[in-house]
Amino acid sequence: MNSTSHRILIKFGGNSLGGPGDLERFAGEVAELITHGYQPILVHGGGPEISKEMEARGMQVRKVAGLRVTDETALAVAEEVLCRINASTVAALHDKGIEAVGVSAAKAGVVCRRKPPAIAIESGVEVRIDLGWVGDVTGVTGSWIEDMLSAGAVPVIYPIGADADGKRYNVNADTMAAFVAQAAGAEIMVLLTDVPGVLRGGESSSDVVHELTFKGIDELIAKGVITGGMIPKVEACRDAIRHRVPVVHMLNGRDPGSMVRKLIGLECIGTTVIQG
Ligand SMILES: Nc1ncnc2c1ncn2[C@@H]1O[C@H](COP(=O)(O)OP(=O)(O)OP(=O)(O)O)[C@@H](O)[C@H]1O
Ligand SMILES: [Mg+2]
Repeated sequence: MNSTSHRILIKFGGNSLGGPGDLERFAGEVAELITHGYQPILVHGGGPEISKEMEARGMQVRKVAGLRVTDETALAVAEEVLCRINASTVAALHDKGIEAVGVSAAKAGVVCRRKPPAIAIESGVEVRIDLGWVGDVTGVTGSWIEDMLSAGAVPVIYPIGADADGKRYNVNADTMAAFVAQAAGAEIMVLLTDVPGVLRGGESSSDVVHELTFKGIDELIAKGVITGGMIPKVEACRDAIRHRVPVVHMLNGRDPGSMVRKLIGLECIGTTVIQG
């Protein structure tokens, strides 16, 4: 990897890819970005797959303000499913000739603590959250990410972090992405999802907000337009910008070539979050 490469954090989730064919296509797009001088770091979620697995085991799936309520069993299921997605992603990247190494955020050096119960706004209503084993990120120790990048490998990280005692926590993948992006000094963060960006009329509308300010985020959350998983997503964008990640986009991962078209073709797609 040469010194002029642009570090880019790409976050994708189960929602942003439809199936095995999509993962192969996504790996091809990552390969294309590398040929254009980008140096990717990947963080992935696995929301739909985790929920499916929990339901298959007769467990109740509960989310508050887009965050999964995680007891000990849910944590074990989440880690198992995320590990599986991680392995398939690494394999798909290898198939495209990309050197990739997959690990948990804990192994990558991300330190967490239990998220304190908090008040959040969902659909304009205040709710008190105790999410169980859900973590906040407090820092990154060691040099695993840097070591991987200097070795020319693509880090592929799933969002299970640990505290100093080794206790593991489920972290929202967007929250994790923002933290890893700032820790790695990424120039760009792209959050791939299953919608074309933030939709002005709520999740079932089609009018994309192409440029979203911090003030716009507050307004759309207060109005109940931004709900569910989009809440941690926009907060992650805001957090990344506050911590000096200069460019932050949300794109539809199901739209073939969206990353390449946005970053290389400069097409006006997705939502770009800006300060203000
Ligand atoms: N105003 C809005 N515009 C667009 N999507 C919205 C809006 N409000 C809520 N959403 C919901 O946010 C969802 C995206 O977040 P979600 O957490 O479900 O997916 P993800 O973050 O891509 O995947 P994962 O959580 O598995 O990492 C959309 O599918 C949509 O249903
Ligand atoms: Mg999400």
